[in-house]
Amino acid sequence: VTVVVLGADGYLGWALTCQFAATLREPIVAVDDLSKRRRVAEIGSASAIPILPFAERVERLRAATGRRDIVGETADVADCAAALAREHRPRAMVHLAQIPSAPYSMQSFAAARETLVNNEVGNLAVLFALREHSPQTHLVKMGSMGEYARVGVPLGEGYVEAVLDGEPASRPIPFPREADDVYHVSKINDTNYLSMACRVWGLAATDVMQSIVYGVRSPLSAEHPELATRLDCDPMFGSVVNRFCAQAVCGVPLTVHAGGTGTTGLIALPDVMAALAHWVAVPAAPGEHRVINQATEARISILDLARLVQRVAGERGLRVELDLAPDPRHELERPGSGGPARTERLRQAPLPGVALEEEVRWILEVLARNGTVCTAARQPSVDWKTGATERGRRRAPRDAPTLSPVP
Ligand SMILES: NC(=O)c1ccc[n+]([C@@H]2O[C@H](COP(=O)([O-])OP(=O)(O)OC[C@H]3O[C@@H](n4cnc5c(N)ncnc54)[C@H](O)[C@@H]3O)[C@@H](O)[C@H]2O)c1
Repeated sequence: VTVVVLGADGYLGWALTCQFAATLREPIVAVDDLSKRRRVAEIGSASAIPILPFAERVERLRAATGRRDIVGETADVADCAAALAREHRPRAMVHLAQIPSAPYSMQSFAAARETLVNNEVGNLAVLFALREHSPQTHLVKMGSMGEYARVGVPLGEGYVEAVLDGEPASRPIPFPREADDVYHVSKINDTNYLSMACRVWGLAATDVMQSIVYGVRSPLSAEHPELATRLDCDPMFGSVVNRFCAQAVCGVPLTVHAGGTGTTGLIALPDVMAALAHWVAVPAAPGEHRVINQATEARISILDLARLVQRVAGERGLRVELDLAPDPRHELERPGSGGPARTERLRQAPLPGVALEEEVRWILEVLARNGTVCTAARQPSVDWKTGATERGRRRAPRDAPTLSPVP
């Protein structure tokens, strides 16, 4: 019996591989195609926390835990899913191996296609591999809270009881999904495929509607700093809290999109690790498509978040300004926001319950020690309508070079 982590070289994947190494007895197969490293390098950025090459960090993990049964494999999920399922028949497979960026997917047709093919074909490869070779495997898949339609009502956990014209639906139906970028549309499609695979093939899947993750404290990294997970702070791959902290450390005004009126759910990295470990320990039943809304801060405005980072950075003597002007996502043109997410299932998982302010202190502390952070903090954002960056340069080198940005 084995546990497989797909996307094991990434922000969440490496932290989870360390978590499993420290807590599970089964052999661990850690798979990644290392494409994140390439994509980040291509935009002239780097992980704000330096990381070792994949093979070397796996070797260090084996040494730190005294385990010889942790294997690192460099492969594309679409190519290796069938062999992994056939050879290992894993107890659990955690699928984190996707391109996780809305701005990246909105740059150009080339980047949109890359996102769709990588995410959806990879996901389908996993589902068909399990159907063919290991239908008893519990699949844990990272979706996104951004899949849900934001229409002012609370975000149901995957499915809701519905009534139309006074007629109740005969069974719970999927909560409406709607997204404003190609990446999140790919996540919606993933969810549809998982739902189908559970209903029609009887697979067991936990589909995590993941809110934005922040933080730097990962399993084993306190005793073994060389096992720290990567941290992206650029506008393409960095999520909002990590990015604000990087900007604060580098003296760059915090880019608060659309005046900061939008709200977001959040969860700290140590809480995500505890939750994923719990879903793996308590699997979904055969045929069950178990959807989890994974957020501990249900709804915080981006402006409040920026002010919090500003205040905590101030404790370190950093003077932080806010730039309220940018709206590369054209959010002000689309009124409407979601209600709070229902999180009944997450409350059943034992989480450390990390406080936002406390983790922000940690992020600032760690970033202040790492020199590569300012390369990431100074990158420009991508406009979701034109694909141009704030500096007016087109980002995607592989897309039709004769096109100029739409004015
Ligand atoms: N970090 C967040 O805030 C957040 C929020 C919501 C959802 N998620 C989801 O969680 C998952 C992990 O996110 P992350 O932040 O760790 O991203 P990440 O980019 O740091 O990690 C993903 C890893 O998967 C690898 N990968 C990508 N495509 C692959 C493929 N076809 N085959 C093999 N490896 C591949 C990449 O090289 C990378 O190491 C993603 O599905 C993402 O959409 C993350």
